Amino acid sequence: MAYNLLKGKRGIIFGALDANSIAWKTAERVHEEGGTFVLTNAPIAMRMGQIKALAEKTGSEIIPADATSEEDLANLVAKSTEILGGKLDFVLHSIGMSVNVRKGRSYMDENYDFTAKGWDVSALSFHKVMQSLYKADAMAEWGSIVALTYIAAQRSFPDYNDMADNKAYLESVARSFGYFFGKNKMVRVNTISQSPTATTAGQGIKGFNGFINYADKMSPLGNATADDCADYTVTLFSDLTKKVTMQNLFHDGGFSNTGVSQEVIEEFSK
Ligand SMILES: NC(=O)c1ccc[n+]([C@@H]2O[C@H](COP(=O)([O-])OP(=O)(O)OC[C@H]3O[C@@H](n4cnc5c(N)ncnc54)[C@H](O)[C@@H]3O)[C@@H](O)[C@H]2O)c1
Repeated sequence: MAYNLLKGKRGIIFGALDANSIAWKTAERVHEEGGTFVLTNAPIAMRMGQIKALAEKTGSEIIPADATSEEDLANLVAKSTEILGGKLDFVLHSIGMSVNVRKGRSYMDENYDFTAKGWDVSALSFHKVMQSLYKADAMAEWGSIVALTYIAAQRSFPDYNDMADNKAYLESVARSFGYFFGKNKMVRVNTISQSPTATTAGQGIKGFNGFINYADKMSPLGNATADDCADYTVTLFSDLTKKVTMQNLFHDGGFSNTGVSQEVIEEFSK
């Protein structure tokens, strides 16, 4: 169902790689709600992904940008406001990648060049995106910026590896930049802490199937899907959440506040 919550609103959506991506589902929902946007991803993802199909479906333009490059981001922000015809009301940062995870290096055996690269892509990029928007004065008043995160920022999940540290940094950046964006530009900044979700990035985590099933059994409402996440993000981009800022918002079917569930007790009573 569509509610026209984003009618007349403009934005940028980072991170749609394929139809499973959280950013992809969000772009579809934002489009349904009347929002217009520019799609962006790393130049390499343009070749791998199917972003063109999404652009056609949503009537959007694509501007490639490596989210670790200040130059690419400045170009993206300038061109987006030009194409969309004004300042931006929403921005979605849906970017994550750990080279240590990809190369099978455990947390006790990090290659620090890999660690630095993963941190730049997954965490510092959020600061770079916001600094680019801030310096260009590209956000409209009462705009909303959202990034995706995971509960491994607060609690230990062994196979989440160095992404846990990246997410802790990302959430801190949301609070720190959120202060200045709120005070000086009336813009809100939040992170959504999402359930495990079957996407390219998610499935890169070792033992992902066990992980996603366990989370589902530990969540009274079950895992939140990418579609659920898209719905929630739409509310954060809408005018109905104007005073929500500097928050890490758990969107996880109740997982984060559950100590144990009946299903898990039964499993261990066998
Ligand atoms: N899948 C999960 O279980 C899960 C759970 C909680 C949070 N998240 C977070 O959701 C976000 C989106 O991930 P997803 O699950 O949709 O996976 P995904 O693989 O579909 O998306 C990750 C995106 O990051 C992009 N990216 C990588 N390097 C980049 C760079 N240098 N510049 C610009 N973009 C770059 C990729 O091209 C890709 O589009 C990530 O922040 C992820 O950590 C995912």
